[in-house]
Amino acid sequence: MGNRLPLLLFVLSIFCVTGKANSLPRASVRSGPTENTGTTPHLQEIFLGRCWGFQQLWEVSPEVDCTDLWEKFFGAFSYREPCDQTASSYDPFFQAATLETPVNRTLFWSGTNALAHLYSDEGRRYSTLEDTLPGHVLNGLRWCGSARAPGYNCTVCPQCQNRPFWPEASKFFAQRARGDVFLVLNGTRRDASGNPEDAFKATSIFARSELPSLNKAAVSTIHVWVLHDLGVDPPYSESCGKGSLRRLDQILSHDGFRMICQDDPSFLRHQQCVDAPNSPVCVWSSATSKAPKQTIYNNVLFLILLSIVLYL
Ligand SMILES: *[C@@H]1O[C@H](CO)[C@@H](O)[C@H](O)[C@H]1NC(C)=O
Ligand SMILES: *[C@@H]1O[C@H](CO)[C@@H](O)[C@H](O)[C@H]1NC(C)=O
Ligand SMILES: *[C@@H]1O[C@H](CO)[C@@H](O)[C@H](O)[C@H]1NC(C)=O
Repeated sequence: MGNRLPLLLFVLSIFCVTGKANSLPRASVRSGPTENTGTTPHLQEIFLGRCWGFQQLWEVSPEVDCTDLWEKFFGAFSYREPCDQTASSYDPFFQAATLETPVNRTLFWSGTNALAHLYSDEGRRYSTLEDTLPGHVLNGLRWCGSARAPGYNCTVCPQCQNRPFWPEASKFFAQRARGDVFLVLNGTRRDASGNPEDAFKATSIFARSELPSLNKAAVSTIHVWVLHDLGVDPPYSESCGKGSLRRLDQILSHDGFRMICQDDPSFLRHQQCVDAPNSPVCVWSSATSKAPKQTIYNNVLFLILLSIVLYL
């Protein structure tokens, strides 16, 4: 297949580009294919550009061969029926693409996609899955196979029962966590119809793939940060020691991990306040900025009074 690949991909990219202009999801989407949209146009070019770019920017050494990674990735789903994917078919790709995450830097998230990534700062502060090479390369993209040439479907990717890519990526990521690990949860999470959901959701990728993959010999403490939306007032049914957080505590202590839970830690509150500076929870910032003015005013007043007294 090696020799055929470039020609097929060329034919394919013409197909996908001229076929239908799919708009890409702006935010990162953790699920792979969705209904009524096909493989992301220019998938190969995006993959290769992101892959080489990531390694140049982060000075990855030794360098991973991105062309080889693409072939491993493409080989996992191409020339198969769209839902015919197994977790293990992506393993050669993950084995080649998964690099070590530095000690104490692994950040997991569930229901807090935007906030967790603002805080991780593309791996500068912490590293989420999307800040690692395999997660970065495929974040927000769609793909699915086709048994016929060109090997993948540009127009329609069906909603498959089995979508192994992100769970498998998460497993490889979690297996490599070392030291203290961190988890950002959403204490005011709601489903699509607006009903409250557990912060520690049993069906989440964290609960199903990441937690069971943590290496007990390498990880001891799990810091859990439970965030509540600024517009939702306490009391919260989902917070440290309550609701699903109590269940998480039981699971972790049963597995031999220590859990340190914190509700709305200030470093994440500040991050939320960036976009809502006038929210009542955030007004401390204008209160502190008033304080120095008051002091300057008092000092000036004092000096004026003093000069008057001395002059008299
Ligand atoms: C990781 O965090 C633990 C606990 O805070 C600390 O004792 C240890 O020195 C840290 N390790 C590194 C490599 O920073
Ligand atoms: C928590 O979930 C709600 C609804 O599911 C969402 O609108 C909100 O942005 C989430 N909060 C955080 C901090 O991610
Ligand atoms: C893509 O999927 C649609 C819907 O299942 C199908 O009609 C079409 O033939 C497929 N295209 C390819 C190239 O397999």
